[in-house]
Amino acid sequence: MVLANAVTQPEGVRLLLEVENLTKIFGSARNEVVAVDNISFGIYPGEVMSLLGESGSGKSTTARMILRLSKPTKGRIIFKGQDISTLKDIDYWRQVQMIFQDPFSSFNSFYSVHSFLGKAFRLTNNHLSESERTARMEQSMESVGLNAAELLFKRPHELSGGQRQRLMIARALLIGPDLLVADEPTSMIDASSRVGILNMLMDLSRKHKMSILFITHDIGLAYYTSDRLLIMNEGKIVEEGTAEAVVDAPAQPYTKRLLADVPTLRKAWDEEQELA
Ligand SMILES: Nc1ncnc2c1ncn2[C@@H]1O[C@H](COP(=O)(O)OP(=O)(O)OP(=O)(O)O)[C@@H](O)[C@H]1O
Ligand SMILES: [Mg+2]
Repeated sequence: MVLANAVTQPEGVRLLLEVENLTKIFGSARNEVVAVDNISFGIYPGEVMSLLGESGSGKSTTARMILRLSKPTKGRIIFKGQDISTLKDIDYWRQVQMIFQDPFSSFNSFYSVHSFLGKAFRLTNNHLSESERTARMEQSMESVGLNAAELLFKRPHELSGGQRQRLMIARALLIGPDLLVADEPTSMIDASSRVGILNMLMDLSRKHKMSILFITHDIGLAYYTSDRLLIMNEGKIVEEGTAEAVVDAPAQPYTKRLLADVPTLRKAWDEEQELA
């Protein structure tokens, strides 16, 4: 299928990630759920790409396959030219990190924040002293608005959902991946701090050429933060294009419906521009 708003590949720039004909089917032959249905897309180095769609459209399943947490039923995922199924976990996860929708499932309640963050250094090649590591941990916590002095030796169950989500972001920052897959990364963070944290992620993307696959229901947040949007419906990608192209001239009825839920999007942005 030719997507109306599809972006053509800039000459000479190689894709960081290529998803080719990816399919995930759950269940048995009699009762199968096609969660992801033959999707293909690519992400360039330093690009922020949003994956949007209603609940159940297959976004998290796509993310889990990219992170190698779930095996594709069909299709391939290529990272820096290599099929990810051939790479070692540690080599892959040093370069591709994640922030989950549900931060509760990501922690072992046995470890303190300090040891949770400390494990991130196993994925990095630097040889830092204990005090240098602690200083880096404190720095990354402060950068996501966590009070390191108060929280560094707490256990995850003593933290709020929003604090845990910030901690996941702090950990990803310590590792400094080339691709960050962020599945509803701020769903548990109050609306007033959400934009600040997302802006911080986008700044990092620009400074370090880190690509971000940002998964969200919120087309407004996606529009403000992303270079391109991918619209997913019932396991398929129905539209792809630059954020402006998709929002200004959506080609598919499904995208129009998603946009209809946020009638003030363009207006709010224009007003913000005028204020700036
Ligand atoms: N482990 C699983 N076993 C069976 N079905 C699954 C499994 N994981 C996901 N599904 C199904 O696959 C479909 C896509 O789910 P997925 O979690 O990818 O959606 P999503 O777009 O992330 O939704 P949300 O916005 O609610 O997070 C749904 O129908 C879901 O019920
Ligand atoms: Mg999901």
